[in-house]
Amino acid sequence: MGRFVVFEGGEGSGKSTQARRLADRWGALLTFEPGGTEVGQQLRQILLSPETGDLDARAEALLMAADRAHHVATKIRPALNRGNDVVCDRFVGSSLAYQGYARDLGIDEVQALSTFATDGLVPDLVLLLVVPPDVASSRLAAAGKPDRLEAAGEEFHRRVAEAYLILAAHDTDRWVIVDGSGTVDEVEARVLDAVEARLPSGAGA
Ligand code: TMP
Repeated sequence: MGRFVVFEGGEGSGKSTQARRLADRWGALLTFEPGGTEVGQQLRQILLSPETGDLDARAEALLMAADRAHHVATKIRPALNRGNDVVCDRFVGSSLAYQGYARDLGIDEVQALSTFATDGLVPDLVLLLVVPPDVASSRLAAAGKPDRLEAAGEEFHRRVAEAYLILAAHDTDRWVIVDGSGTVDEVEARVLDAVEARLPSGAGA
């Protein structure tokens, strides 16, 4: 089995850049949610396009879960079974933080849905990139027009950030908090330290 590492964090946390860096370093499969498969791209469009408008919170959670189920079954699990490492930009933690906590569906309910979707697959390591809200909003502003979830408001994103810290505190075996402020190189050095400490077999990769 390959190693399965997930990056989590709020909008503008820099996790996508760091996921790419780690995947390049390891020669790992780099993938993401929602939208890591062809079917997933269609679901991503529904989930994130501002044109979708209001979407019921349970429907949103189920579409995220549908994306994940197909992604795990057709891409992530086969790669891990072939012995490839997989680096994924967002996974179950995003559903727990955004739908479970910030949308108030309940972390336990969304965990149950997610376990069904993944058929029990869990990451070896979850790296949570945390940046101060002003750093995140200036990175976001530079990224252009917000998608449906980015546009969900300050209070929503404050709750997402709070949820992530709760999740990390409750699963310290799997989750590591990484300070996402500073340059890309500085953050990468922190990521590599965390990976080295938690998955030492990957040290030489
Ligand atoms: P990103 O590709 O820019 O990270 O955007 C994905 C958006 O979807 C982001 O706002 C977080 C959100 N999201 C959820 O709400 N639940 C999930 O399970 C996942 C994977 C993403």
